[in-house]
Amino acid sequence: MTLIDEWPLFGLGLVTPMLTLRVPSDEDLAQLIQLALAGIHPPETMPFSVPWTDLRPPLFQRNFLQHHWRGRADFAHDRFDLNFVVIIEGSIVGSQSLHRRLPSTTVSFETGSWLGRVHQGRNVGKVMRAAVVAFAFDYLQADVITSSAFIDNIASQRVSVATGYQLLRTEMVSRRGVDTAQLHYELRRDQWERTGICELIEVTGWPACQSMFSP
Ligand SMILES: CC(C)(COP(=O)(O)OP(=O)(O)OC[C@H]1O[C@@H](n2cnc3c(N)ncnc32)[C@H](O)[C@@H]1OP(=O)(O)O)[C@@H](O)C(=O)NCCC(=O)NCCS
Repeated sequence: MTLIDEWPLFGLGLVTPMLTLRVPSDEDLAQLIQLALAGIHPPETMPFSVPWTDLRPPLFQRNFLQHHWRGRADFAHDRFDLNFVVIIEGSIVGSQSLHRRLPSTTVSFETGSWLGRVHQGRNVGKVMRAAVVAFAFDYLQADVITSSAFIDNIASQRVSVATGYQLLRTEMVSRRGVDTAQLHYELRRDQWERTGICELIEVTGWPACQSMFSP
């Protein structure tokens, strides 16, 4: 008996030809922390709405683990933060999250992601986003998926546009105390189907997990 039997999400994996997304074990989180500590963005920039990368060790690591453990502990079929690790050739290169938002008549999700700096700019961001989007539409009956990026985060904006998202609105939010434009994107099922993007080739562990995504 392993924990996968008791908590089937530990067996969930989204497989593409380039990379695999899997729900992290604690050992995976230990590796992910090291990747994050090695750097995600230049210190003078801040791509995240919640500026978690501004924390210094050891608070950084503790906050990081609590964030991931909270997502695990608070999982519910109609509201969750599923934080996948991104694996290429056996190494963890980043994080791709899929958040199911407040229960409503529309099945809506939001995505968030980051890669270690050495892994950025190599198309990985687009492939991991496409994988999680395909999973949400094909397996979780998503109606709409949203994503946001600050005005100066061109890579994130390009990932959204390349995945078929449309710019919905721009709002001013405070970032490190400075009003900054944040762009909100939306991807509806028909828009996604029109892209013809087909990265996801297999979802491992799905039969055991399926009931966790149902009432
Ligand atoms: C955002 C992020 C996940 C994108 O992943 P990535 O692998 O670097 O992006 P890709 O290589 O798939 O490139 C996506 C597009 O952005 C462009 N791009 C990538 N890095 C760029 C940069 N620094 N400046 C301008 N454009 C860039 C690519 O050319 C590509 O554009 P195209 O579709 O027109 O060809 C990654 O850059 C990252 O982790 N950044 C830091 C954390 C972050 O910003 N997270 C998102 C918060 S909203």
